[in-house]
Amino acid sequence: MRRRIALLTGGGDAPGLNAVVRAVVKTAVGENGWDVLGVIDGYDGFMREGGVWHMTLDDVAGILPEGGTILGTANRGNPFVRKRPGPNGETIFADIKQEMVNRIQELGVDGIVVIGGDGTLGASLQLIKMGCLIVGVPKTIDNDLGGTDQTFGFDTALTTATEAVDKLHTTAESHRRVIVVEVMGRDAGWIAMGAGLAGGADAILIPEIPFHIEAVCRQIRNRATFGRKFSLVVVSEGALPVGGEQVYKSDGDTMYTARLGGVGARVAEQIEKIVGQETRVVVLGHLQRGGRPTPYDRLLGTRYGVHAVRLIAQGKIGHMVALHGTQITSVPIEDAVSKPKHVDPKGDLVRTAKDLGISMGDE
Ligand code: F6P
Repeated sequence: MRRRIALLTGGGDAPGLNAVVRAVVKTAVGENGWDVLGVIDGYDGFMREGGVWHMTLDDVAGILPEGGTILGTANRGNPFVRKRPGPNGETIFADIKQEMVNRIQELGVDGIVVIGGDGTLGASLQLIKMGCLIVGVPKTIDNDLGGTDQTFGFDTALTTATEAVDKLHTTAESHRRVIVVEVMGRDAGWIAMGAGLAGGADAILIPEIPFHIEAVCRQIRNRATFGRKFSLVVVSEGALPVGGEQVYKSDGDTMYTARLGGVGARVAEQIEKIVGQETRVVVLGHLQRGGRPTPYDRLLGTRYGVHAVRLIAQGKIGHMVALHGTQITSVPIEDAVSKPKHVDPKGDLVRTAKDLGISMGDE
């Protein structure tokens, strides 16, 4: 059966997006003979003049190893809200879901592949309820989506963060300094945990385990007594002190979610004050989202993209492709977004860190 499907990438970008886009187009256009409409800048493209185009195999030639997304993306909390002038000239936040559903119907789309994280896929549930035939592909460097063992993008971000910790180790050691590295991950500590363990950090602070700054300082002092006059502390952007709060760079509103950032600097400041050792902070930020995907993410993204087309062919609407063990399968999007995946404070990763003598800041 010849179909017309739309394809979009939403939320923060992640390495491997182009691998998924390529796999969807190669399978749907090249093998199935379907029509694929590429949607520019996430859901926004549906509402924009020239915001969709008919994708060809040429469009995806050579993009497999490239970072970013050839479709563009938008990272807003709610993709279905627009600022518009109200009746009295004031600015109102308008809900444009129905307009978007009408537009999708006008385009004659009978399937949409949405590549996104919890925000984009969670928002997609609203369109599914309104009749849109959406299947999801789990994307995020944070690895915090439920329903799948791993999201694509995480492996590359972890590689980038680990390489940074490696590099910072040598300079920390040369100068006998403490270096605090702030990594992304929002409310999930997967990047911090992974890069901290793989990079040999001395303390790892994650949102799932509130920290005592004294415990971190104790670890640094202890190391000094063994002649280790430098230390590496990996802090997740969402880490918070016991009894305290997460640190935000900006507040959210109806359209945008609040942005985390700044905990690394606070931790560094406190270490310098309490331990009295020269301390520096490095915020890796969007470096973790950029660059070429690792072979693992190319492979995972490719398998996800091909399977997303199969889901549409099978009519498995409302499902998200997923990795379970070594198998690609699918789960309801609702299950994936309603049960985010966090680092288990009593799980193997944390126990491994503690058995190695790494401080998690809790004792
Ligand atoms: O969800 C991915 C992520 O990288 C988070 O870890 C981070 O908090 C957020 O995106 C930052 O997004 P942006 O700068 O695009 O608003």
